[in-house]
Amino acid sequence: MRPRVYVQEGGRVTDICTMNASTGPKRILVTGGAGFIGSHTAVALVDAGYEPVIVDDLRNSRSEVLDGLERILGRRVAYHCVDCGDEQGMAAIFETPVHGVIHFAADKAVGESVAEPEQYFSNNIGSTARLAKMIREAGVPHLVFSSSCTVYGEVQSLPVDESAPIQPAASPYGFTKQACESLLTYSHAAAEGSLGVALLRYFNPIGAHPSAEIGELPLGTPANLVPFLTQSVAGIRPALTVFGEDYPTPDGTCIRDYLHVCDLAEAHVAALQWLEKAPGALDVFNLGTGTGSTVKEVIAAFEAATGRSVPHQFGERRSGDVTAIYADASKAQRMLGWRTQRSLQTCLADAWRWQEKLGN
Ligand code: NAD
Ligand code: WQD
Repeated sequence: MRPRVYVQEGGRVTDICTMNASTGPKRILVTGGAGFIGSHTAVALVDAGYEPVIVDDLRNSRSEVLDGLERILGRRVAYHCVDCGDEQGMAAIFETPVHGVIHFAADKAVGESVAEPEQYFSNNIGSTARLAKMIREAGVPHLVFSSSCTVYGEVQSLPVDESAPIQPAASPYGFTKQACESLLTYSHAAAEGSLGVALLRYFNPIGAHPSAEIGELPLGTPANLVPFLTQSVAGIRPALTVFGEDYPTPDGTCIRDYLHVCDLAEAHVAALQWLEKAPGALDVFNLGTGTGSTVKEVIAAFEAATGRSVPHQFGERRSGDVTAIYADASKAQRMLGWRTQRSLQTCLADAWRWQEKLGN
């Protein structure tokens, strides 16, 4: 049995973890760990015996997430309120050996990135560049990066695999993901074998932890389909507008690959474990279900899963939307041993439980 140890972070004893007697606890820095995907990944990391250390300045999240994590895990997760691109603020965190970094922290709203491109370049690319330098200087062996299917743009053939050409970015946000993939590829080369990098291209993560203790916190009007849908059912919005009913798809609405955030969280653990077995490797993985669903199918699945009807109307196409995209995720299955486990209905039932917990 592995010995249990107390870990001190941020000036107070915050945690108990398991450790490997010879190497110490496997501390994983989770930048953006108070956010939607990062918080679920913190749970998956603890479940797998890692020690997550959350770094998040709460610019798009709330400290209550840490309380939700405590209720799920039965203990407090180590947490630092700091900008992950702030070298001074991060220095103390790197003083204790870091086994890996999962870098979620970024601004993520496509529309906002069009209005505020400088903010997106500065935070998403600038912070990643400074963090990558810190990672190399500290000799961290493993790095997992949050990329996006947005790098593919409008694809020529479906499902899309990792060899599909990267299109010119349709938004500053999309550009930052392409730029960070390139940047980290150069960082990997500069590390000359001492740093392994997994670039993970997420499709459309939805849902929430089944406990409804953590989930997506849309601040303001949600831009994404599922939070808008659940808020419409909850009466916060009058109705969901389906953007376009005249696309060349079986029912005229756009097709996406929606995956459960807990499945996505588990993929990060699988990526870390792959890097441990292939030190110094570099690769890119699609993370999706492999199945596309139309907006109308999402509405029908929600109604079947919850018994609630979705108030909705049909509107104009949204500028920048691609017609259809879904993943060929067979590389992740083959190399990481990962595939999604949860159905679309489970995703939507969990999203609704979370919305009910949030209330109006
Ligand atoms: P989120 O906004 O819920 O979480 C991001 C977290 O990072 C927030 O808690 C925010 O406060 C924090 N943050 C941002 N910049 C920071 C900085 N410089 N220093 C410290 N903390 C900072 O977003 P999410 O949905 O969990 O997305 C996580 C990552 O996954 C992002 O990189 C995003 O671009 C990427 N991604 C998300 C989706 C999606 O649909 N949610 C899809 C593809 C890729
Ligand atoms: C899904 C479908 C909309 C809202 C975005 C980013 C992408 C990635 C994931 C980060 C589309 C339709 C939506 C609404 C609707 N994020 N829709 N009414 O656009 O596939 O991807 O999030 O990397 O980069 O662009 O996700 O949830 O916004 O839309 O009809 O009120 O739902 O047209 O077909 P999208 P989404």
